[in-house]
Amino acid sequence: MSQPDQTIRKGLAGVVADTTAVSKVMPETNSLTYRGYAVEDLAENASFLEVAYLLFNGELPSEEELAEFEREERSLRQPDQRVLDAVASLPTDCHPMDVLRTAVSIIGTLDPEHFTTDVEHIRRAGLKLFAQLPTVTAFDIRRRRGAEFIAPDPEKSYSENFLSMVFGDGEGSPVNSEVDKKAFDTSLILYAEHSFNASTFTARLISSTLSDTYAAIAGAIGALKGPLHGGANEFVMHTMLEIDDPARAADWMAEALDAKKKVMGFGHRVYKNGDSRVPTMEAQFRKLAEEHDGGRWVEIYDTMAKVMDERTGIKPNLDFPAGPAYYLIGFDVEFYTPLFVMARVTGWIAHVVEQFSDNALIRPLSAYDGPEQREVPRTT
Ligand code: COA
Repeated sequence: MSQPDQTIRKGLAGVVADTTAVSKVMPETNSLTYRGYAVEDLAENASFLEVAYLLFNGELPSEEELAEFEREERSLRQPDQRVLDAVASLPTDCHPMDVLRTAVSIIGTLDPEHFTTDVEHIRRAGLKLFAQLPTVTAFDIRRRRGAEFIAPDPEKSYSENFLSMVFGDGEGSPVNSEVDKKAFDTSLILYAEHSFNASTFTARLISSTLSDTYAAIAGAIGALKGPLHGGANEFVMHTMLEIDDPARAADWMAEALDAKKKVMGFGHRVYKNGDSRVPTMEAQFRKLAEEHDGGRWVEIYDTMAKVMDERTGIKPNLDFPAGPAYYLIGFDVEFYTPLFVMARVTGWIAHVVEQFSDNALIRPLSAYDGPEQREVPRTT
């Protein structure tokens, strides 16, 4: 029998773990496609709901298919009261990602369907999470602000409904501008999918044991929380708030880099010459800044990127423009990663379906470097 390859690829860097037809990341051209469509093309010409359909089903919807998908999504928005009661019982100072992870587990316990790896079954569970996670997120945002919950409105589109659950007055009147809505929808499209990133790989790994969809998504949320992954969008804004004055941005960056600190929102495991999604999100951020008198954040953004480029050549990733964009829309900083979850759950579900379509248990090897075999000390 041949010996397994003992080469250690720390962080699985450069390892091709499986095939996927969901998305293609092309670092050589700084581009990204979902099911063959360029993300910037989708951001320009499709809604997030159409992109969600594309990821779930493999093709963009016809008008009728979109109407049916939208009808289903709207009908599933209100979670079981037990989910909201459980969320209401959680501390208001725990991280909102912990709330979301817990909510997914509870939604799973209330699913009367016995788990199977059947595609339709997973899509149903996925669509439920896709429709209900925005409601749970809005509920959590408002309870922390001491504001009353605004129930989802089936008359409103996905993004409009979410924004009005978060920022509305409960009377249904629109509170966000078209610029806000477009920027938010664009961010969801750009965050929706990105091949075998850490959280998606977590979801696939959990699925590979034939565990259920809720377990896969709860695990993925845990992985996304970390600041080296999704949590970076929050840290970007914390950094910008700490800098506060554009005149301090260059010095702040110089000090951080001198101290060999990682500056959140820069760098990427796959893209080494710029993240394909940044120009599209950056354009939305600049529009938001014009609309909301946010020139200060643009100045800080530009200075940070300039210093980073001059000193290291490291380019911004999507979290860099997304952080201040969410700030300008009015979201509380600790909720930026839950917004990412609302988007990425579509990609996760697509990958869970794909994993089950040709499953192999994911179980790598390790090279042992602990103590030599030894005996437990005898006391007698
Ligand atoms: N700030 C400062 N230096 C950075 C950096 C950053 N954001 N990202 C990478 N570097 C430097 C590292 O310090 C390292 O320098 P060294 O060779 O002198 O030690 C070099 O670039 C390679 O970095 P490394 O962490 O090994 O690259 P990676 O491919 O493993 O990491 C990330 C990718 C995303 C984990 C890393 O860039 C990072 O931590 N970024 C900040 C978090 C972030 O924005 N995450 C969101 C990703 S979408």
